[in-house]
Amino acid sequence: MMPTIQEPVDFDMRGGSPSYNLWLASQDVPVHSGYYVQDVRTLERSWWSHRGCPAAVLNLEGHKGLEQIHVLEIPAGQSIPPFRLALEEIVYVVEGQGLAAVWAEGYPKINFEWQKHSYFRIPTNYFCQLSNARGDHPALTLHVNLLPLALQTNRNPDYFFKNPFVDLSELYTDDGRGFYSAEARAVQRGSRMSWHANFFPDLTVWDKLEAYGRAGRLAYGGGIWFPNSAFSTSLMVLPSRRYRTAHRHAAGTAIVGIQEASGFVVMWPEGGEYVVAPWQEGAVFVPPSHWYHMHLNSGAVENRQLRIRAPRAGANPDADQRRSIPFAQLDPWIRTKFEEELAKNGLTSLMPEEAYTNPNFEWDEEWLKDD
Ligand SMILES: [Fe+2]
Repeated sequence: MMPTIQEPVDFDMRGGSPSYNLWLASQDVPVHSGYYVQDVRTLERSWWSHRGCPAAVLNLEGHKGLEQIHVLEIPAGQSIPPFRLALEEIVYVVEGQGLAAVWAEGYPKINFEWQKHSYFRIPTNYFCQLSNARGDHPALTLHVNLLPLALQTNRNPDYFFKNPFVDLSELYTDDGRGFYSAEARAVQRGSRMSWHANFFPDLTVWDKLEAYGRAGRLAYGGGIWFPNSAFSTSLMVLPSRRYRTAHRHAAGTAIVGIQEASGFVVMWPEGGEYVVAPWQEGAVFVPPSHWYHMHLNSGAVENRQLRIRAPRAGANPDADQRRSIPFAQLDPWIRTKFEEELAKNGLTSLMPEEAYTNPNFEWDEEWLKDD
């Protein structure tokens, strides 16, 4: 039964989205809170009547009130019930392979195959049915939508679950044939390229990445975008035995480990305690609003991660004079911890000594690509 929405609700924004919290409290699904999840593949899941399958919901500090993130289990050899939501949903395949059918009521189904590491978007209010193509293993899909944010603009969940309106031009232009094409379209965005598609078959082999070597930003990445989406998404690949320096920004960037990796993340509010999160495939962390956070790769292989970012209406990053901290000004504890973690793996740091002495140190982008 739905909770009543007539009673007064607590509009303290630190608690996230009050109407979403009420709705979530009515759901028969395990909810995981805190700052991070070490491995979404092993999270406790149980039957969720709302989606008709085993599931788990994440309600982490950094995306409360903005995004709903949940994991669905599609049992071996089965299909889960068709579902629609008057909000777009982004799906990353954590495990398994299968089929998706997406359609508007009374219109043809558009079908495509997905596999582990596929990434796709279900447009607003289209039915989607997911089927597991394998008879021996469950499939796991990670879904992101903006239900908590939407329920702050309209407190009635039925508006999002029982809304008949569908924009047919989203899927059925070109008879729907092109919508889930695996051919991404290159688009120039300022000095960078980004790639637009509604279906990326395997993010672990996506190689259209550019190094970025500005001070402290040792990494390379690439924009992958869903046209028409409110989310912005990208890949970041952090080379082995190195780290990015700390930075901070508005809440709502979910970061998902999509490849076997070992490392850790450090997050902290200005002047507050450190939270250390282990990093591996299946890890999810969402830095809370304006907490510093940094990613350290203490493993032998590069570390590939997917970032899914909620809209940042009203945020003004340029107002923050301390948006990032040069390596040379980081707490020395972080370097020590990094070197200790490397030693556990029989490795040593590839961080240049100059990074710790020169606050304006910049990376050689070609050297990054050599890794
Ligand atoms: Fe960040």
